[in-house]
Amino acid sequence: MTQELSIKTASLSAKSAGILVIYVPEGAEPSGAGLDLWKKTGLDFAKLSKAGNFTGKQGQVLSVLAPPNLDADRLFVLGTGKADSAPAQTQSGLRDRGGSLMAKLLAAKAEKASVILDGVDAEDVADIAAGLRLRHYRFDKYKTKKQPDDENGTPDSLTVTLHVDAKPAADKAIADRMATVEGTLLARELVNEPPNVLGPVEFAEIARDLSKLGVDVDVLTPEELEKLGMGSLLAVAKGSVRPARLVVMQWHGGRKKDAPLAFVGKGVVFDTGGISIKPAGTMEDMKGDMGGAAAVTGLMKTIATRKAKANIVGVIGLVENMPDGNAYRPGDILTSMSGQTIEVVNTDAEGRLVLADALWYTQDRFKPKFMINLATLTGAVLVGLGQEYAGLFSNNDDLAKNLYDAGMASNEKVWRMPMGPAYDKMIESRFADMKNSGGRYGGSITAAQFLQRFVNDVPWAHLDIAGAAFSTPANEVNVSWGAGFGVGLLDKLVRDKYED
Ligand code: BES
Ligand code: MN
Ligand code: ZN
Repeated sequence: MTQELSIKTASLSAKSAGILVIYVPEGAEPSGAGLDLWKKTGLDFAKLSKAGNFTGKQGQVLSVLAPPNLDADRLFVLGTGKADSAPAQTQSGLRDRGGSLMAKLLAAKAEKASVILDGVDAEDVADIAAGLRLRHYRFDKYKTKKQPDDENGTPDSLTVTLHVDAKPAADKAIADRMATVEGTLLARELVNEPPNVLGPVEFAEIARDLSKLGVDVDVLTPEELEKLGMGSLLAVAKGSVRPARLVVMQWHGGRKKDAPLAFVGKGVVFDTGGISIKPAGTMEDMKGDMGGAAAVTGLMKTIATRKAKANIVGVIGLVENMPDGNAYRPGDILTSMSGQTIEVVNTDAEGRLVLADALWYTQDRFKPKFMINLATLTGAVLVGLGQEYAGLFSNNDDLAKNLYDAGMASNEKVWRMPMGPAYDKMIESRFADMKNSGGRYGGSITAAQFLQRFVNDVPWAHLDIAGAAFSTPANEVNVSWGAGFGVGLLDKLVRDKYED
């Protein structure tokens, strides 16, 4: 059962309800509005915190049931860590604070909570709100039975009221931050959906829905892609009964003459490997092989929701990679939209074939300021970087630096990997202009070299999110399988560097 969540703001003097939450830094006692409330209980803070092993570290809670003289079911005193420490100060630390609170509210089966945030500025309140919402998200729509967690009756709805110094400023900041959160949640949802439910056509329809927010959405069919000469993308789709789609999303929020920023996503709705079929173990994870397309779609939602002052293009290539009598084979030679030919040596190296045409199309049609693609492209990037960082490959140092900075700020981190002619040599083919795999060694790098052949000197970056997009360890702000990785990162990049 999915619980409704509503996050509201109120003044500090407004009446509170349900669980009352106050914050205390490490080694400190309640102060400000928190102290006024605490005083009403008549309890001895030093004694209680000692008894409850509460020192104020981030994530710690001191819970007082039915606090004397307070009109509340419980009083939660939550730790914020050392006042000058990173978790207490940074955007992601504040989001974690919200996430950690949500975990406690869910565990307490709360229906209402009132959080005292005096002295917290509007931007920081917004980050806490974002954490609350991100942690609340779960993907349980296909569960028909109550879970053990629900046994004591999870309430149908949860209302969290944030009591703040200045309500209008907080409301404005929260609305802005929630635009980013909603994009992330859309990306998570798309990644979580099973592959029988979400095929290329269904995915394209969800993207088309963004037109309600003012995004211009074009959905191209195989006939149109054929006319454009997309022999590389279309080859991947040949083994599937489900037709390919290319979705082009445009947001016009900047000056008319400004070249757009372009984002391109790999959208393999399911990757069996094709004729070069994958082993059975964890093949079900390949429902998430559209994580790049999910991030681009989520980003477009964010951009349109917050009415970003920039021109943005999102292009996603949607296909299913299946083995079948019509499937493409190892040995096939494909002609891409760019005119370059590709020898297929492994049908499981399909993502780059999809992106080859999507990237070429994007730079050719839009002449963008830069092009950033996201793709769950290689298992090798998991070997190299694990799930903490996405692999970053770029032909442009400034763009790479800006992405690194945006990653650190958003906590969707990227790490730059090398490229160069020696790696490019590894994808030379005996029969065609290139082959689609350079083998095991440097597998993420040779994949990037392949993509670079389709960007035509446009400033470009490739994010290999095979490790970051799904099945990442649960953290303070995500307990869902799909991570929604990329939305927060790219939204941050656009905000900080490309809007005025
Ligand atoms: N979708 C996979 C990569 C992947 C693996 C994503 C694990 C997420 C988790 C991609 O299409 C693929 O199969 N890549 C091959 C390339 C190889 C055949 C050159 C790989 O990484 O093994
Ligand atoms: Mn594959
Ligand atoms: Zn794939």
